[in-house]
Amino acid sequence: MEKKSVAAMTLVSVLVLLVLLVLGGVEGQQESDRKTLVKYKLGKKYCDKGWECKGWSVYCCNLTITDYFQTYQFENLFSKRNSPVAHAVGFWDYRSFITAASLFEPLGFGTTGNKTLQMMELAAFLSHVGSKTSCGYGVATGGPLAWGLCYNHEMSPMQSYCDDYFKLTYPCAPGADYYGRGAIPIFWNYNYGAVGEALKIDLLSHPEYIEQNATLAFQAAIWRWMTPIKKSQPSAHDVFVGNWKPTKNDTMENRVPGFGTTMNILYGDGVCGQGDVDSMNNIISHYLYYLDLLGVGREQAGPHDFLTCAEQVPLNPSSKPASSS
Ligand SMILES: *[C@@H]1O[C@H](CO)[C@@H](O)[C@H](O)[C@H]1NC(C)=O
Ligand SMILES: *[C@@H]1O[C@H](CO)[C@@H](O)[C@H](O)[C@H]1NC(C)=O
Ligand SMILES: *[C@@H]1O[C@H](CO)[C@@H](O)[C@H](O)[C@H]1NC(C)=O
Ligand SMILES: *[C@@H]1O[C@H](CO)[C@@H](O)[C@H](O)[C@H]1NC(C)=O
Repeated sequence: MEKKSVAAMTLVSVLVLLVLLVLGGVEGQQESDRKTLVKYKLGKKYCDKGWECKGWSVYCCNLTITDYFQTYQFENLFSKRNSPVAHAVGFWDYRSFITAASLFEPLGFGTTGNKTLQMMELAAFLSHVGSKTSCGYGVATGGPLAWGLCYNHEMSPMQSYCDDYFKLTYPCAPGADYYGRGAIPIFWNYNYGAVGEALKIDLLSHPEYIEQNATLAFQAAIWRWMTPIKKSQPSAHDVFVGNWKPTKNDTMENRVPGFGTTMNILYGDGVCGQGDVDSMNNIISHYLYYLDLLGVGREQAGPHDFLTCAEQVPLNPSSKPASSS
C-alpha cells in the first residue's frame, strides 16, 4: 500500500515533468521562430533577431554568438580569472561579453561566414584579449594559457600616457591617467579619446570607466577589432574574415589575409616584424588553445604563414607600445 502510493506519486511527477518539458520545448521553439524577422530587398536577405542582432542586417540571418558560444565555454577559456591570485576577481563575465558583442554582431562580428569561420573569429578576437590580460607564466597551475582576463588594468604604470601632440583633439583631463585598461588594453589619451568618441562616452574625462565596467571594456575591445586604425587600412576583423584584398605593397611586405595580420593591425612593431618573438608567439598560442577548447581544432587555423607576422613589415611603425601589465 505504502509502496504503491509512492510509485504512483513518482509516476505522476514524471508525467508532470514530461508535460512541462514538452510545453517548455514548444515555447522555446516559438520564441526562437518569433525572434527572427526576415525581409528581402533587391534579392538580398536581411534579418533582425532582437536584442542580440538588432536592425536589418545580412549578418543577423546567420547564427549569433550565443548560438555557438555559451557560458561554460567562456568559463573554459578563462578558467583562472577568478582564482584568488588573479587581479580582477569578479570583474569579467560572459554576460558582459555578450552584451558588448551584441552591438557589433549586426556589423559582422562573430556572424560572418559559416559556423566554423564564426567560431574562428571569436577565438581570434578572444586570443588577443586572453594574451593581453594574462597573468599566466611558465609554471602557472592549469598552464600559462588558462590565465586570460586576469587583469583589467595595468598594474604599475610608470607614466600617465598623456601625449601633448593631441592637446587640441584629445586633451588630457586634469588628474586623469591614460594607462592600460580593458580587454585589449587601451593606452594614451588619443586612444581613449577615439574609443570614447565612437562609443559616445567621455573616456577622456573618465578613463577609469573602462576598469569599472566590463561591458564597456569589451565594447572598446570589439570596437578596436572592428575598426581600422587608419581609414586607408583594413580592420583586424576584415583581414581575418577575408573582407580584405592585399595590395601589391602588402604582398611585398608579407601581409596576407589571416590571423597574423590581425596582430600587425593591433600592435604594429610592438609584436610584428621582429622575428619569432615571445610577444607574438604568446598570442598565437592562445589562439590555437582556444580553437581546441571550442572544439574547432587548431588544425583549422591553417599553415604557419597565416598565423605569424614575424616577417611582416609593420603597418603602423610609429605606433605606441600596446602590451599590458
Ligand atoms: C566554412 O568556411 C571555411 C572558411 O571560410 C571553409 O574553409 C570551410 O570549408 C567551410 N565549411 C563548410 C562546412 O562549408
Ligand atoms: C551566413 O552563413 C552562410 C552559410 O553558413 C554563409 O555562406 C554566408 O556567407 C553567411 N553570411 C554572411 C553575410 O556572412
Ligand atoms: C556599463 O557600460 C554599458 C555600455 O556602455 C552601459 O550600458 C551600462 O549602463 C554601464 N553600467 C554601469 C553600471 O554604469
Ligand atoms: C607602397 O609602398 C611605398 C614604399 O613604402 C610607398 O611609398 C607607397 O606609397 C605605397 N603605395 C601604396 C599604394 O600604399
